[in-house]
Amino acid sequence: MTSRRQFLTAAAAAGIANRAWGKSTDSTYPYAEFEARVGRRDFRGMTKDVLPTPCMVVDLAMFEQNVGTMAATAKSNGINVRPHVKIHKSVDIAKYQIGQGAIGVTCATIAEAELMSGAGIRNVLWTKQPASANNIARAVALSKKDPTFMFVADDPLVVDWVVEAAAAAKAKAKIAVSVNASMDRQGIAAGEPALQLAQKISSSQCIEFQGFMAYSGNAAHTHGWEARRVRSANDLAGVRETIGLARKAGLPVNIVSGGSTGTYNIDHDNGLTELEAGSYIFMDTAYFGIGSKNGDSTYSDFQGSLTVLTTVDAKLHPGLATTDYGNKATVRPTDKVKGMPWLEVGTQGAEYGALKWKDGDGDLKLGQRVEIYCSNLDMSTNCYDRYYVAKGDQIVDAWPIMGRSGAAQR
Ligand SMILES: Cc1ncc(COP(=O)(O)O)c(C=O)c1O
Repeated sequence: MTSRRQFLTAAAAAGIANRAWGKSTDSTYPYAEFEARVGRRDFRGMTKDVLPTPCMVVDLAMFEQNVGTMAATAKSNGINVRPHVKIHKSVDIAKYQIGQGAIGVTCATIAEAELMSGAGIRNVLWTKQPASANNIARAVALSKKDPTFMFVADDPLVVDWVVEAAAAAKAKAKIAVSVNASMDRQGIAAGEPALQLAQKISSSQCIEFQGFMAYSGNAAHTHGWEARRVRSANDLAGVRETIGLARKAGLPVNIVSGGSTGTYNIDHDNGLTELEAGSYIFMDTAYFGIGSKNGDSTYSDFQGSLTVLTTVDAKLHPGLATTDYGNKATVRPTDKVKGMPWLEVGTQGAEYGALKWKDGDGDLKLGQRVEIYCSNLDMSTNCYDRYYVAKGDQIVDAWPIMGRSGAAQR
């Protein structure tokens, strides 16, 4: 059996001395107290080294720079930002975005909307229509509790259901018409059909017409800024026509919401009054290569501020390092290793990831920490309980992620 002395000697040889394991001294971290210290936000001496992996780490300086870039660009372009929270599911982040000028937040599920509104955030927009009894009741209840809450509809039947529920609850609901912007998953056809739905909402009791929502998701990841500009302009042409029809018919169009991280510096020219962009705060590999307005083939406007920290759990074979970033942590072959572009990311099972050398073998060591950029923020952040917030290697905060009990199916 390995003695404690032998273990510590081996650990030191592998470059993992001064780590959390073993008793607490000045140079080790009291791991037994880890959760308690996170709970009371006592991060003294806590570095990335001692974090349990796999976990999510936010580089605070990059994150703040991303939020600042979005805020400044939107301001100079005369468009509002109502950032999408499905990317982060974090009240702390939403509050920071609002502190930097966001007018509210955009949500994908009623559970997200309830969380944000319940945390005191006003002007929450839910971009999916309530079609089940559960969702209708909750949308109406939230409208009653928080009169700044707004949701969308793209079907007259849903409007009828909401009117009935709102009348029964003595509530008033704010509704924007969701208009198709070339993604067929939602949105009534632009032009006359959208106008008629807006008129129906406007003339019904217990609900209020607010304007339009049009998400041009196919434009978001179009490669090349000019191609993206053209794609977004085309996708939103029907919405612009609809706005004109509504105004002509005397309807007040308070908001036109849409847009994305990819089109944040485009859509002020396409009729939108606000951006629902989300990914810009962290960035994922799907966005890394879409190209910038300045001609860069990478998307250099925003930086990759979020990584998954993983540990090399086994290094037994040439060209392969086994990590703890596996399927349950949403590993994807399109993920990228920070600072080591020569490595490919793969899976070896639910709790096992793989780092493979594209060519030959390299120098990753057992116990080494590696940071990975994920491919799809929505999917990845949904698997974790918290973000560890880092200034360099030092952890300075932890932001809870809306629990899995709060996911869409709740
Ligand atoms: C309704 C809606 N609005 C906006 C966005 C834009 O998000 P992002 O900036 O992350 O591309 C999304 C992304 O999927 C979305 O579903």
